[in-house]
Amino acid sequence: MGKVFVVANQKGGTGKSTIAQNVAAAFVDDDPELKVLLIDADSQNTSVRMSSIPKNPLPFAVISLAAAGEALGREIQRHAVNYDLTIVDCPPSIDNPNTESAVRAADCVLIPLDASPADAWSTLGMLKMIRRALPVSDQRHCVVVFNRTNVKTVAYREIRDAIAEFENFTILKSVIKQREVYKTCMGLGATVFDAKGVRNLKEARDEIRGVAEEVIKIISK
Ligand SMILES: Nc1ncnc2c1ncn2[C@@H]1O[C@H](COP(=O)(O)OP(=O)(O)OP(=O)(O)O)[C@@H](O)[C@H]1O
Ligand SMILES: [Mg+2]
Repeated sequence: MGKVFVVANQKGGTGKSTIAQNVAAAFVDDDPELKVLLIDADSQNTSVRMSSIPKNPLPFAVISLAAAGEALGREIQRHAVNYDLTIVDCPPSIDNPNTESAVRAADCVLIPLDASPADAWSTLGMLKMIRRALPVSDQRHCVVVFNRTNVKTVAYREIRDAIAEFENFTILKSVIKQREVYKTCMGLGATVFDAKGVRNLKEARDEIRGVAEEVIKIISK
């Protein structure tokens, strides 16, 4: 079975779908032979909707398992045997059984947040849920990734320090900046790796590649 990456946080709008879609594309961009599956576990269907827009198919498969509930973990594993990498885009809630079910099936959990108090509070709740749900050895593969973030701000430093106090969890060095290109690409049904002629594609590709490379290193340890 291939590796399973779950993108989750309890707060809405932290960039879960954006990161799930673009990291899926980064893996295929790095190795076009890889078979990658994106599972949409959120009934908002953001990733499924995005995948239905483009005329040219995305370089990875997309399915919805939003209705799976507590069976989601089993369903993820059933599908993941047919792929090298499976990415799961979770709903914005830790009360939704899909989130915990996906987290339990994960080789790596990516937790996006921006450098704001509201995102920080939600992330602390998410980390507590992971502490309850996973053994310590698996918590080492849970990573926090700052999205829409300017690293020169005091808020970033303070929130980073607060999260660093949680043992076992890694904060990625790669940071994703606020860039219109992510919104534009989603609206085109594309990722930053397959879109053309949009401003800041190179910068966005570099930062998403950074995230993909770091998570691969972390789960290979
Ligand atoms: N780095 C970024 N720069 C600019 N816009 C971004 C960035 N990341 C995400 N967005 C935009 O923010 C909005 C929310 O992002 P996204 O849908 O990925 O979040 P989400 O966590 O999946 O939301 P939900 O909790 O509703 O599922 C979208 O319009 C997306 O295009
Ligand atoms: Mg989403």
